[in-house]
Amino acid sequence: MKTSVKILAPLLGLLSASVFAHDVPQKINNNSLKIIFPHEVSGHDNSSESFVDSILNKMTLDEKIGQLNQMHCEDGKLLEEYVRKGLVGSVMSITNPKDFNKIQRIAIEESPLGIPLINARDVIHGFKTIFPIPLGQACSFDPNLIEQAARISVIEASAAGIRWTFSPMVDISQDPRWGRIAEGFGEDPYLASILGASMVRGYQGKNLNNPTSIAACAKHFAGYGASEGGKDYNSTFISPNRFRNLYLRPFHSCVDNGVATMMTSFNDNDGVPSTGNKWLVKDVLRDEWGYDGVVVTDWNAIKEMVNHGYCEDERSAALKAINASVDIDMMSRAYIDNIKSLISDGFINEYQIDDAVKRILRLKYSLGLFESPYCDETLVSTAFYATDHIQKAQELAEKSIVLLKNDSQILPFGSNVNKILVTGPLADAPYEQLGTWIFDGDAQHSVTPLDALKNEFGTDNIIYEPCLEYSRDNKLEGLNRIKKKSSEVDIILAFVGEESILSGEAHSLASLCLQGAQSQLIKELSQLGKPVVAVFIAGRPLTIGNEIALSSAAIYSFAPGTMGGPAIVNTLTGKNNPSGKLPITFPITVGQIPIYYNHNNTGRPSDGTELKINDIPVGTPQTSLGNKSYYLDSPECLFPFGFGLSYSDFKYRDLCLDKNEYQLNDSITLTFNLENITSVPGTEVVQVYIRDIHGSQIRPVKELIHFERIALDANDKKCVSFSIPVAKLGYWLGNKYVIEPGKFDIFVGGNSKDCLTTSFNII
Ligand code: BGC
Repeated sequence: MKTSVKILAPLLGLLSASVFAHDVPQKINNNSLKIIFPHEVSGHDNSSESFVDSILNKMTLDEKIGQLNQMHCEDGKLLEEYVRKGLVGSVMSITNPKDFNKIQRIAIEESPLGIPLINARDVIHGFKTIFPIPLGQACSFDPNLIEQAARISVIEASAAGIRWTFSPMVDISQDPRWGRIAEGFGEDPYLASILGASMVRGYQGKNLNNPTSIAACAKHFAGYGASEGGKDYNSTFISPNRFRNLYLRPFHSCVDNGVATMMTSFNDNDGVPSTGNKWLVKDVLRDEWGYDGVVVTDWNAIKEMVNHGYCEDERSAALKAINASVDIDMMSRAYIDNIKSLISDGFINEYQIDDAVKRILRLKYSLGLFESPYCDETLVSTAFYATDHIQKAQELAEKSIVLLKNDSQILPFGSNVNKILVTGPLADAPYEQLGTWIFDGDAQHSVTPLDALKNEFGTDNIIYEPCLEYSRDNKLEGLNRIKKKSSEVDIILAFVGEESILSGEAHSLASLCLQGAQSQLIKELSQLGKPVVAVFIAGRPLTIGNEIALSSAAIYSFAPGTMGGPAIVNTLTGKNNPSGKLPITFPITVGQIPIYYNHNNTGRPSDGTELKINDIPVGTPQTSLGNKSYYLDSPECLFPFGFGLSYSDFKYRDLCLDKNEYQLNDSITLTFNLENITSVPGTEVVQVYIRDIHGSQIRPVKELIHFERIALDANDKKCVSFSIPVAKLGYWLGNKYVIEPGKFDIFVGGNSKDCLTTSFNII
């Protein structure tokens, strides 16, 4: 019987000189000299390198190309056949440990070299225990908790035999029409950099070799969240400077935090699809950032370069991708079908393939797969939905909830409320509260808001009439019952928003209004003379200004996951004092998109004093109205980035800096007083922004540079100090990170709009 031990046997060749085929010309001479780049070997210890080389030396070209080939479990018999021949390096989406061990056994015992497979899966916000969607997690501004959630996700996923997740998605997006906004951390590159890195640490643990650690994948590299019009897969038009200062920063942070793999994105930027974008993948990621991890394509993306009109056929698409230094072909087979002939025809050099194979073998080595290729089939019973996983899911769901309005302190309620009327399509929708990308989560484990309310207040005190079966339902039914019962109740809770299918991949929307008759429902409820609390559960920001105006209080819960119900009910009743803040600007209307806080100033910025549409006298002759940059009909956003209320009220006072002038190596010490002026203990997410007043390139009017969650007891006051290195204040000017001398404003506050401010100079 063959086992993996055979490749641990004494090595044939010693560590061969490492080769890096940079700048491969269109057509090359196969005998050309190897180019040796010393940095290629740095970061890998000699034992792993010599091990990897020993395998590489034994591989046929077909087997090497096989490592670049990723197939799906649904390929069934074909997958087995390919694995047996050593023509597959990784598989996708096998979620039963027995099934995984079966295919792994074929790889280990029947393939020529017995190289183990890696099993990959989209574990995006939990495997079995589902956490809030990443956009919701971002509301917590809590990197540690997000790291813990990621760790739990992979304890569950690795029990099923998964050792690679296609997460985190760190695509910045300013467009809630884009359904995949649900999967990212919002509009801010600093927040996404911190939270993306947390997820990477959580997934990968201290050591990838630990059987509960799995490889992370920062995706989608890059610019995918800028798809034109918010339509998924659409083209993007991002300048190199914007790429570096906005879209690339979270990826760079993941690389700095050791992300094992990266995935190229579907979009073309300015006519070049990412999967064939040599500038992006090879020049920036590999050469500038020194990334030597594995780069995988998105699903079928090599072939799709033909659809884009970027490549004539699959063969030329494979050439573009491999020349961009993309290692693994997810699902398109363009590599397995074409690389060999591209080599024999002299278009590429086998050393390019060797480089890619080595990166893949190193990953397998780091994951410990050569020593322990199989997974323990007994772990699922203890790992899935473990009590501490469920508790963490609730904690993160609670911290992800954002209180948007609380007139007359309607919330929280408790003993002052006896009977509650519960309505809306999402009050008892166990599947919908899980959100997008939850292939493995089971809805029967969800605890809905209705369940939690009954538990808290007793079934007899809850009158439940959904009125709408699902969020797009146009048939309002049961209103009469609601009208009849309303006199008996103390409060009305309306659970509205989006079913999970309305956000996620390929689920873009042109209108962000509440679907179906949900608005009508809120309108009807608002006329019953009882306080109405709107609870929005959705995968994206919605344009809900009217519904909020008609409600006494409103909370927003981006699809909150398995424990969404108790988290929401604990928030309504004050057991959880909300601390979540929005990681994205909420528009009033779709026409304002893109609307984001960290925009540049125009030469004619609005100062808020301009005439609004209804102030313009009828018959006004053609006039400039001040020639300012604003929308006559919607000058403001609905809620700014960083916004979120609490049952506590926090006052910021006395902002000061330790100096007026700083040098590049200094740190800025910023001090202020933060006071909780209520008798409710609470936590404030304090946010620090800067504005670089002028630069060689215009800098945004505000940029988040620091945040911290600060807990304050009832009526407590703290003098808070942060130390912020000046080195953090720079930006990318071309491929140089610069900090330019001059004046900066600095702001501190509880959201991006309402801040204390002062200034300093960099000299
Ligand atoms: C998505 C990726 C995902 C991949 C594998 C693609 O359609 O864009 O985010 O990781 O499928 O499931």
